[in-house]
Amino acid sequence: EKGGHEYFMLKEIEEQPDALANTLRGHFRSGRVVLDEQRLSEQDLRDVDKVFVVACGSAYHSGLVAKYAIEHWCRLPVEVELASEFRYRDPVLDRDTLVVAVSQSGETADTLEAVRHAREQKARVLAVCNTNGAQIPRESDAVLYTHAGPEIGVASTKAFLAQIAANYLVGLALAQARGTKYPDEVAREFAELEAMPSAVHKALSTMEYVRELARRMADSKAVLFLGRHVGFPVALEGALKLKELAYMHAEGFAAGELKHGPIALIEQGLPVVVVMPSPKGRAVLHAKLVSNISEIQARGARTIVVAEEGDERVRPFADELIEVPAVPTLLQPLVSTVPLQVLAAEIAKSRGYDVDKPRNLAKSVTVE
Ligand code: F6R
Repeated sequence: EKGGHEYFMLKEIEEQPDALANTLRGHFRSGRVVLDEQRLSEQDLRDVDKVFVVACGSAYHSGLVAKYAIEHWCRLPVEVELASEFRYRDPVLDRDTLVVAVSQSGETADTLEAVRHAREQKARVLAVCNTNGAQIPRESDAVLYTHAGPEIGVASTKAFLAQIAANYLVGLALAQARGTKYPDEVAREFAELEAMPSAVHKALSTMEYVRELARRMADSKAVLFLGRHVGFPVALEGALKLKELAYMHAEGFAAGELKHGPIALIEQGLPVVVVMPSPKGRAVLHAKLVSNISEIQARGARTIVVAEEGDERVRPFADELIEVPAVPTLLQPLVSTVPLQVLAAEIAKSRGYDVDKPRNLAKSVTVE
């Protein structure tokens, strides 16, 4: 049932192009983005004046990615909250607040409690979920299913990419309802999303190189991950994968924060994974990241760079270069996450750990 793969996670990593295609399927009809499993009207979407994304773990990272897109497309304030923090604060919610609860399992206790809390405050709740009929969609006003298929590996992979795509559909539906994007722009954004399964397929071709790199990294004590803009949540996700699978100390940082503390951690031989923005799409940020990399390299770090193919400016600073296909900036997490998933799984395997069942973790966390 692992389809000839050594472990489920590898199978699920390879299924990501199909998972994405399934998430998107049927959501663009007659020139419009449709969220047809939802019970929110066009007017409800128009009335939204603030968005909260609440989730845990990788699902939370999918929300961090979506914030960049939804703010940009919809001109709406977006807060992304860890579900376990959200409900014990006093978040400011009312009936024009849209709470997007993202959960692969749909059973995560903290996210479920956040949904209940939001509904008590009369906010509208849209669940983004991978599991039909789970508790979170049952208690929400509306649901958008990701249709990524069952995920067996405890570490989330295809469900995470599907969550990003689903969150983007929510963003496009909001932009469409609010008129912050013209219909042809919404159509173009959707077409770009539809091109992602093939881009992710190309990103999978990094697999052999990353597996070999992973074997060489297996003895590292710690790994840092740096990114900016949408690359920052990707860095957090890469670090989470490595912690949970390889039991290594791994931290993700916003690259701009380096000088405000983390640079003190840099020492001879420390592997630092850097998620680069596009040299064309985000030239200013790209230049800043190149300068960060040269600084950490000068202090002896071993730089492992995930960059757009053909990025010649970063090449001299990359001790290891992982090239992913060029895609629009907001969609980069869908390709740049892929090698980081493989890296974590293969380091775990090299260290002799069970990739599909990491110690102390459960696939769905139904207690707080
Ligand atoms: C990480 C991972 C977890 C889950 C988190 C939320 O690889 O799998 O961090 O993302 O427990 O789970 P769901 O999405 O089921 O609510």
